[in-house]
Amino acid sequence: MQFAQRLQNVETSAIRELFKLLGKPGIISFAGGFPDPALFDVEGIAAASEAVLKNNPGPVLQYGATEGYQPLREGISRFMAGKGSTVTPEGLIVTTGSQQALDLIGKCMISPGDKVIVEAPTFLATIQCFRLYGAHIIGAPIDADGVDVDRLEALMKEHQPKLVYLIPTFGNPSGATLSLERRKRILEIAVRTRTLVVEDDPYGELYFDQAPPASMLALSDGVPGSRDWLAHCGSFSKILSPGLRVGWMIAPPELLAKATMCKQFSDAHTSNLTQAICAHYLTQDRLGDTLAVVRQTYAERARVMAQALRRELGDAIDFNAPQGGMFFWARLTGMNGQPAQAAEFAKRAIDQGVAFVPGAPFYAHDPDLATLRLSFATADVAKIEEGMARLKLALA
Ligand SMILES: Cc1ncc(COP(=O)(O)O)c(C=O)c1O
Repeated sequence: MQFAQRLQNVETSAIRELFKLLGKPGIISFAGGFPDPALFDVEGIAAASEAVLKNNPGPVLQYGATEGYQPLREGISRFMAGKGSTVTPEGLIVTTGSQQALDLIGKCMISPGDKVIVEAPTFLATIQCFRLYGAHIIGAPIDADGVDVDRLEALMKEHQPKLVYLIPTFGNPSGATLSLERRKRILEIAVRTRTLVVEDDPYGELYFDQAPPASMLALSDGVPGSRDWLAHCGSFSKILSPGLRVGWMIAPPELLAKATMCKQFSDAHTSNLTQAICAHYLTQDRLGDTLAVVRQTYAERARVMAQALRRELGDAIDFNAPQGGMFFWARLTGMNGQPAQAAEFAKRAIDQGVAFVPGAPFYAHDPDLATLRLSFATADVAKIEEGMARLKLALA
C-alpha cells in the first residue's frame, strides 16, 4: 500500500518490542507507564456512572459539544482554581486524554520542517506525534531541576522553534521537577521571543511530601503577557483512571478555537458518558481522599525503590530520587566494569525475571545509552525489593 509520506517520519516505538517479552511468567515489571489499578476508586466511579445514567441519560448518551460537556468544563475550572490557576470554563476544552491535546497542538502548530524543542529525555509519544506532523525535534538538556534554561534559551535563539514542549512537574521519564525560578524565567523568555510553550502536566498531583512549585499556568498570572504564549495540558488519567480517556487543554483563545475545529473533524467530542462521570465525581468530594491514598502508596514505593537501588546496585547506578510522579530515571555508571549499555542490561534483566525500559527511545536525538526508566507505580513493596535483587543478579 502507498501510505502517506508523513508515516516515513515515525516508526513504532522500540519500547513496544520490549513489551512483547513481558508476557514471560513471573516477570516483575518496572517497565510500564500505567497507574496502579488497585488504587482506582472503583466504588466512586461506579456511583458516579450510576448517578449520571439515572439522572441524565439523554444528554450523556447523546452526541455533545466538541468543546466538552459543560458541567465538566465548569468542574475542571474549579479544580484548576484549587491549584491556583484562573481559567474560565470557556478557556478550556475537554480532550480524549491529554494525548489528544498534544496531537491537536501538533496538528494546529507544526508544518513539515518546523522546529520544536523538547526536554532530553521526554515523553516518547510526544516525539512520535510531533514527528508525524513533520517536526524537526531538538532536545534541550535537563538536570535534577528540570530543563537547563540557559541552554534552552540558546537553542531557542539558534533554532527559532515553533514551540517548546515541557513536562515541568515529575517528568516522564525524567522524574525531574522544574524549579520555581526556572518556570518564571521560561515564561519571560516565551513572552520576549513570542514562542508558544506547552506545559504538559499529568503528574503534578502525584506528589509525596510536599506540593511541587506552582504550575507554569498558575505562575503565568504574575508574568505579564505570558498567558498568550502558554498552553497547558491536564488529565484525569493518573489521578482517577486512564480508561476514562478524559483530559483537557487550556490555551490562548486563537489556538483553542483552531484545536476545537480540528477535534471536530477528528472525534467530534470526547465521550459524553465518561465526561459526565468525571464531572459528577468531582462534585462528590472523593478526589481528595483518593489522591491521598495514591500519594502515600507511591511515596512508600519510591522510598523503597530508592533504598533497594542503592543497596543492590550501589555505585553501578546513579539516580535522583523523585519527589512525586511514577518514575525513577537512572544512569549506569559502568563502575562494575561492564559497558554502561542499558539495552544490554535490560536483556540480562529479563533473563533474571525483571524488566525496565532503556532510556534511549526517550531522546529525540543523541540518546544517552546508559540511561533507563523504572516505574514504581504498579509493583508493591515486596516486588520492588525482589525486583531490585534480581537487577543486581543481572548486573553480575
Ligand atoms: C507526559 C505525559 N503526557 C501525556 C500522557 C498521556 O496521558 P493521557 O492521554 O492518558 O491523559 C502521558 C501518559 O503516560 C504522559 O506521561
